[in-house]
Order: sequence, then structure tokens, then C-alpha cells
Amino acid sequence: MTAIPRLPLSDGHSIPQLGTGIWQIPNEKTGAVVASAIEKGYRLLDGAFIYGNEAGLGEGVRLAGIDRSELFITTKVWNSDHGRNGARAAVARSLDTMGLDYLDLVLIHWPCPKKGHYIETWQALIEMQKEGLTRSIGVSNFNADHLDRIIDETGVKPVLNQIEVNPKMGNGALRAANSDREIVTQAWTPLGEGKNFDFPQVTDVCKRTGKSPAQVILRWHMQLGHSAVPRAANSRHQTENLDIFDFALTENEMTAMGTLDWNARCGPDPLFFEWD
Ligand SMILES: NC(=O)c1ccc[n+]([C@@H]2O[C@H](COP(=O)([O-])OP(=O)(O)OC[C@H]3O[C@@H](n4cnc5c(N)ncnc54)[C@H](OP(=O)(O)O)[C@@H]3O)[C@@H](O)[C@H]2O)c1
Repeated sequence: MTAIPRLPLSDGHSIPQLGTGIWQIPNEKTGAVVASAIEKGYRLLDGAFIYGNEAGLGEGVRLAGIDRSELFITTKVWNSDHGRNGARAAVARSLDTMGLDYLDLVLIHWPCPKKGHYIETWQALIEMQKEGLTRSIGVSNFNADHLDRIIDETGVKPVLNQIEVNPKMGNGALRAANSDREIVTQAWTPLGEGKNFDFPQVTDVCKRTGKSPAQVILRWHMQLGHSAVPRAANSRHQTENLDIFDFALTENEMTAMGTLDWNARCGPDPLFFEWD
């Protein structure tokens, strides 16, 4: 396996380009899934309070027995924890549940613009970064206006914006907005929940390279230059998804993949998602 490249973050840290997410993995299975991922070579683990498996994430880290400094662990502040006190309590709770003493990255999970507290929430993340509770801070599901508001009001820009990107939801304008602001894009649901596979734009590359559809799609993400956190509870999928650094899509194949972009979301529209 080739080493996973790292992407620089604007605060001086860096992040593995490819990681793995743990949404929808039951807490009691998460320890084994995370330990297996780390043993195979994953270093970036994408968690969140709302996934209900932060205890399992911490258990997996301990089971793998790897030095904490080699890992890059993300969690996210949930919608009901917005505001200064809520965000501080949420990060303390996540650290406690995982049994860790710092995070690599804390994200605001959704902007919840109607609630209107994402600026205070961002201020709390800035404080917690200064206190060493997290190395880096960022956001998820923010559009360009939300990014500009937090940057204008605090002078601190997020290092990363985790947004939905997969072949059917290219999210190109927002990826460009991130990059214009030196914010790394990270793709959630990068495989379209494993349902984006049956298109000639994908299967033609599979035939040429001998790679699987998931590998072709993940390689497409890597060539677009952003980070991605596919979920794989299945050990075979974990192995397969790491094996994407020994081939490349041609320029024509990248262009063909772009024609699958129908602006079709798997998840909710961040402008309207306020669920607690
Ligand atoms: N910030 C946000 O709002 C947000 C929203 C959604 C997701 N996320 C993050 O993004 C991560 C990934 O998104 P996701 O979990 O929605 O979906 P995804 O990664 O696009 O797809 C996961 C599905 O693909 C399957 N899969 C994985 N590797 C495969 C392979 N090589 N061949 C065939 N199938 C494969 C998985 O099966 P198995 O599990 O059986 O291996 C699972 O059913 C989440 O876990 C979470 O960390 C963040």
C-alpha cells in the first residue's frame, strides 16, 4: 500500500487526504471496525457526537494500540449544542466519551442558519483551539455566505469544510469557494452511500484498470484534490478503499465522471437543516 498523501491546513497542521467515517456503525461494533481500519493503515477517523459511537471510536483507538500522535481524530458539535456554553460542553463530553485528551479537528456539524448561533459556536471553537483541546477547527455543511460571516466576525478561518461530494453531487461551486478561501474541502458520503456504481463513466474505468467502482470513485476524489472519508464497516471494503494510489483516471475519464453531476443530494440541504 502506498502511503496516504497529506493535505496542508491553513493553521500549519496537515490532514491525511483519505480517511474513514463511522456514521451508522453501531457503538458496540465501532471499536472493532476502528481498530481494523487503523491496523490496515487508516489514520484519519471521522466521528461525531450524533453518530452515538464515540465510546466505540475511543475503544478502537486503544485496541489498535498505536501512538495517539499518529492519528487524526475529528468530531463535530451537533445542532442542539450550538452557542458558546453548548459547544464547550459538547467538546468536553466528546473527549470524555472517547477517553482522549485532545482532538485533531472539531467541526460545527451544520450551520443551522435559522437558529442563528453559528458565530458564537465558532468563537467557542476558537477558544478551545487556543486552550489545546483541539489542534484544528473547521466547519461542515457551510455555504460561502456562512464561511464569510464567521471569517469577517472573528478573523479566524476554518481550515476545512466537510460537505457532500460524490459523482452525483459534485458541489463544484462550493468546492471552489472553499479553495478560494484556502479551506480544504472534505467529501462526506463520497461513495454516494455505495449506490453510484452502475454508470459507464465508472465501469469503463474499472474495465481498463481492473479496479472496483468504489476505488474508481475514491480515486476521482483524490484527483480533484480534496479529502474524503468513506465509511466501510466491512473489512474487505476497508482494504479495497485504501488501494487507490497506484492508478489514475485520464483527463477524459475525469471529464466523463463530471457528467454524472446532477446536483442530486443524498443528504439534506444545509440551508434548511436545523434538526436537533
Ligand atoms: N458532515 C456531515 O453532515 C456528514 C453527513 C454524512 C456523512 N458524513 C461522514 O461521511 C462518512 C461517509 O459517508 P456515508 O457513510 O454516508 O456513505 P459512503 O461512504 O458514501 O458509503 C458508505 C457505504 O458504501 C459501502 N462501501 C464502502 N466501501 C465499499 C466498497 N469498496 N465497495 C462497495 N461498497 C462499499 C459501505 O458498506 P460497508 O459499511 O458494508 O462496508 C456503506 O454501505 C460518514 O461515515 C460520516 O463520517 C458526514
